[in-house]
Amino acid sequence: MPGIMRAAAIDEFGPADHLNVRELPLPQVGDGDVLVRVSVAGVQLTDAAIRAGWTPPGATITFPQVLGNEFSGTIVQVGREVEGLREGQEVSGFRLLGCYAEYVSAPADQVVVLPADVDLLTAGCLSASGQTAHTALDRLEARPGETLLVHGAAGGVGTMAVQLARRRGLRVIGTASVSNRDHLRRLGAIPVVYGEGELDRLREAAGPDGIDLALDAAGHGSLTIATGLVEDRGRIGSLVEPSLASELGCRWITSDRSSERLAELLTLCSRGELHVTVRAQYALDQVADAHRDVETGHGRGKVALRIQHRAT
Ligand SMILES: NC(=O)c1ccc[n+]([C@@H]2O[C@H](COP(=O)([O-])OP(=O)(O)OC[C@H]3O[C@@H](n4cnc5c(N)ncnc54)[C@H](OP(=O)(O)O)[C@@H]3O)[C@@H](O)[C@H]2O)c1
Repeated sequence: MPGIMRAAAIDEFGPADHLNVRELPLPQVGDGDVLVRVSVAGVQLTDAAIRAGWTPPGATITFPQVLGNEFSGTIVQVGREVEGLREGQEVSGFRLLGCYAEYVSAPADQVVVLPADVDLLTAGCLSASGQTAHTALDRLEARPGETLLVHGAAGGVGTMAVQLARRRGLRVIGTASVSNRDHLRRLGAIPVVYGEGELDRLREAAGPDGIDLALDAAGHGSLTIATGLVEDRGRIGSLVEPSLASELGCRWITSDRSSERLAELLTLCSRGELHVTVRAQYALDQVADAHRDVETGHGRGKVALRIQHRAT
């Protein structure tokens, strides 16, 4: 194994072009950690927010700071106290930072061995959006037979929320642009195009049974629209606007990531009951383009970084 690796890092907060690929020392591997040779790192809006100056709770930003909070790859080293994991296993995992790199070190309880039939691209783009959507359905106590409204249903979190809710036996209405209408239908949702007249279209799509709960993964006034459709504001969740959620008496939801949640998502993928849509793949050197892509706020599913390794 080399002593240095290529990674995409920032030296100061700023726009996408502040992300640069450089050589850095391999991360330290603690007694409870595993070192993973990264194959794929998912790219989130959260990563872009950190790049621009936001520090997530529990994180310390130290320049040069490698970004990236989900990954897949192969274990190449196991800490002395780690049980049940070994070199050569392919895993999916999560951290707050550090995944846009050839190697990442992560606590053993933040990686899960891939089940059969789950590829590294799926596994590298599953954890962040998948665990957020899964957490949200739990927090909103989604029950079979109910109707869920997902704002931003075609995005990274939205596509996961639609599929997970359908699997739990809910009827799902999802908002998206015209270009994503058929995509939502394929996921099992009733599509409604956002924009002028949206509230009326949503009422029509809901029909006499109405809407029981809503998840806002879009912003742009979606939370206010949801309050006109769902009676119980405790069953309206926002992933986007904490202050507005509090003002309207709705719930602010943050992802509660765990290896158990990730393992459940991976099992669903291996059974063909959950699919990760990847709209674009970029090389590590194209990381700034990947950030510009997620920052459009539009698009279907996820953006991935494919990590190519030099011959050693
Ligand atoms: N609280 C948390 O723990 C947490 C965790 C993860 C993400 N988030 C946040 O959740 C949000 C969604 O994340 P994401 O990764 O899913 O983003 P994303 O992939 O960019 O998806 C956003 C989706 O919103 C849709 N959209 C844009 N304008 C809209 C509008 N006016 N009405 C309805 N939909 C609209 C877009 O659909 P079209 O392409 O069809 O326009 C797009 O598919 C982001 O703000 C992110 O920061 C929060």
